[in-house]
Order: sequence, then C-alpha cells, then structure tokens
Amino acid sequence: MSRPTFALYFPRDFKWGTATAAHQVEGNNTNNQWWRWEQSHARIMNGDSSGLACNWWNDAEADFDRMVTLGLNAHRLSVEWSRIEPREGRFDSAALDRYRAMLLALRQRGIEPMVTLHHFTNPWWLEERGGWEDADLVVPRFCRFVETVVRALGDLCDLWCTINEPNVYAVMGYLSGGRMPPGVQDVSRTANVMRNMLIAHAAAYQVLHQNQRLARVGIAHHMRYFEPMRPGHPLDALVARALNSMFNQSVLDALIHGKWHLVLRRGAPASARKLRGTLDWIGLNYYTRHRVAFDHTKRETFFSELLIYPQDVMMTDFNFGEIYPQGILRFVRHLARYRLPIYITENGLPDHDDDLRPAFLIQHLHATWQAIQSCYDVRGYYHWSFVDNFEWGEGWRMKFGLVAMDPKTQAREFRRSAWLYRDIIRSGGITSEIVEAYAPALFQTLYQ
Ligand code: BGC
Repeated sequence: MSRPTFALYFPRDFKWGTATAAHQVEGNNTNNQWWRWEQSHARIMNGDSSGLACNWWNDAEADFDRMVTLGLNAHRLSVEWSRIEPREGRFDSAALDRYRAMLLALRQRGIEPMVTLHHFTNPWWLEERGGWEDADLVVPRFCRFVETVVRALGDLCDLWCTINEPNVYAVMGYLSGGRMPPGVQDVSRTANVMRNMLIAHAAAYQVLHQNQRLARVGIAHHMRYFEPMRPGHPLDALVARALNSMFNQSVLDALIHGKWHLVLRRGAPASARKLRGTLDWIGLNYYTRHRVAFDHTKRETFFSELLIYPQDVMMTDFNFGEIYPQGILRFVRHLARYRLPIYITENGLPDHDDDLRPAFLIQHLHATWQAIQSCYDVRGYYHWSFVDNFEWGEGWRMKFGLVAMDPKTQAREFRRSAWLYRDIIRSGGITSEIVEAYAPALFQTLYQ
C-alpha cells in the first residue's frame, strides 16, 4: 500500500537562512580578546585556534555562491568591532568597505543580510580596560561604533541584531570560570555584565533608529529549556524555575517591560525603564533542553546538570546537548505573548557525520511550522551554521555546518542535510517525499 502524501507549507515570504559570526568564519582576526585567549592553547580543545577560520575575510563570496546553490534567501552574519575600530576612536574605512562588499554580494545573490553588531568578541583596547564590566566605558563606545556601522552600511541592511546572547556571553565569560574569556567565576560580575549589555542594546536601538528610519532592530536571545532532572523533585523543580527566570526571562523582562529581574536588580545603578520597548522583533537562538538538579556543593550556583543522559534521550556529538525539537514551539508560544515578529536566529547541532542533522532539521522546522499554524508570527529560520567554523572553546572538533570544511585545506563538501535544506526551500516546506528521502522514520509522527 502506498503511503499518503502531505505538504507542510511555509509562508511565501519566509526567510530561509543560515547564521555565522565574524570571528568564527573570517580568519586572522587578531585584534580582539578571543584571539589572545586562543594563544594560550590549553584553553581551546585540542590546542586549536581560529587561524584562517573559513577564510571569509578574503573570500566569503565563494560560500555565498554555495548559499545560492541551496536557495537561501537570508543570512545572518556579524561585523567585527575590532576590525572596524582597531584603536579607540579610529575607524578603518577599508574594513567597512570589505563589509560593504560582503553585504552587496549577498544582496546581488538575492540573500537578505541580518547584521549582528556584537557576537562575543571585543576589540582588545576595550577588553584591556574591563570590557563590558564598566557601563560608562562600554555603552557610549558601543553606540559610537553602531552609529559608524549604520551610517556606512545602512543602505545595504536594515535588519539589525544588536547583541548576540548577552546571557551566554555573561555566563560563559564570568560564571563558568574558563569556558570563555576573561575566565572569571563571580555571580555579581556576571549579573553586571549582562545588565550592561542590555543597557547597551537599548542605547544602540535608539542610535539605529535615529540613523535609519526603517531600521528593524532586535536581539538574538539564547533560550534553554530547563527541566528538573528528577521529575517531581521539589528542589530540582525550584532550580529549573530559577534558571528559567534568570537565564531566559530576565532579558525579556528588561527589554520588553523595562524591569530588572531579581538578579539584575542587585547593585543596579539605575532603573530599567529606558530599556522598555527596545525590540522590533525577537530572535530566538534555540539548541537544547537541560535537565538540572539542586546541588548544595555548588556554592556559586546551587545546581548541576545531568551529565549522563538516559538511553532514550537523543544526544548530539560530544554531549553538546539533548535534541528536543518541541522546545522551539514552546518558546515561540511563550514569546508570542509579546506580539512582536519572531526570527529563529540560530538552531543547529554538532554532527560530524550528519547522521542526526537531517531528522533534527526536519523536526525543528516542523515545530516552527506548527508555531506558524498557530498564527505565531515567525518570519524566518537561520540554521547554525552554513559551514563548519571555529566553535569557540571547542575549537574545530564540533561540526555545525550544512557544508563540511576541513580547516587545514579549506576544502568544502555539502553534507546531505544541505541538500535536504535545499529541497525544503525549493518546495516551500516539508513534503512527504522529502521526509521519505531523508528521514523516513519521522513519517508517522509528521503525518497526523
Ligand atoms: C553562539 C554561536 C555558537 C553556537 C554553537 C551559540 O550560542 O551564538 O556562536 O557557535 O551557539 O555553540
């Protein structure tokens, strides 16, 4: 008996994209805190460093051509502050020209750019003076940088993402004790950095709108789905709730309601009222679910994460995280209450041999489709990432690309998932033929 057919179509103007960040793809990005951090090899897995990365500074266009092969109509990339302002107050017009050329190249290929203004890296001159710890230092300088960028690139881009993941930047740099520079472990410094980033976002929002009437400004907000490790255990439930409100909700409360969350309020120099309403859209970076437990031995944070997962849980390479597609739908449902357009600004997984990615992609796009069916205003999906790139402290071992790349030779090869994404884009959605061809095991669950 032949199987039934189905097609889950997306809106005609849906943005089918991928996402990258400057430091992870450009190469020889020597003037920021990450480059310095990498020089101490013990800090990066296998002693790796970003090196030439994906060589985008010289030839991003070759990958833009590959994007055309897949039919992408959107790409999210970031501009590198340390290239554009290599010394404080000195702006490099050649660097801005290179970004102009990249944005133009994308536009010529029918790919709409979304530009992120800060994605984890700081110019060394800023980092040396305390980076994001000092609001009086960083906020005006970030605004001046943003103003320079919007004036130089504003004719080529109007979709701006101010800051990538303030919560991740703060936690990884100031709480994890070494996963990212500057390698601090201090709760109140973490909160302070996160708060300063939110203040800077709000200030940059105004700068962008003052310089570009039709600017559409948002933030890429990383949300993790926290659940109690031991279901029904009250302390684990408490920890999951607390993490959800600190990590996920505090950013939204600040930028939407103009309210400091409990952890951000302590030591706050001023009210958050000015932050209210500084989002034209919300970007959701979604990867995994985390099971968390109360742990009294963890003096700073009082929780630990599940390290060994039950057998029925689908994990990515290197235990990067649990695959939990429903998380997208649940978070979009949550975000929809703010009545702003939503973009899935990142979603992906490390999967070297591409055995999990096809099902992952279909399932996460299916969850996105379900969200759209419920009339939630999801405008686009940016897969992380287009090509394997420098994965921060994990170096080159985690392979997030639709396109595989060998950092030693720069050789590239489309993974099967790339063809899957192409077929979905071509069809305008997920069809039964596509599911049959790439992940037949999903057929029953999708056809309901
Ligand atoms: C970051 C990316 C990173 C990805 C995968 C996101 O949180 O924005 O820079 O490569 O996660 O770990």
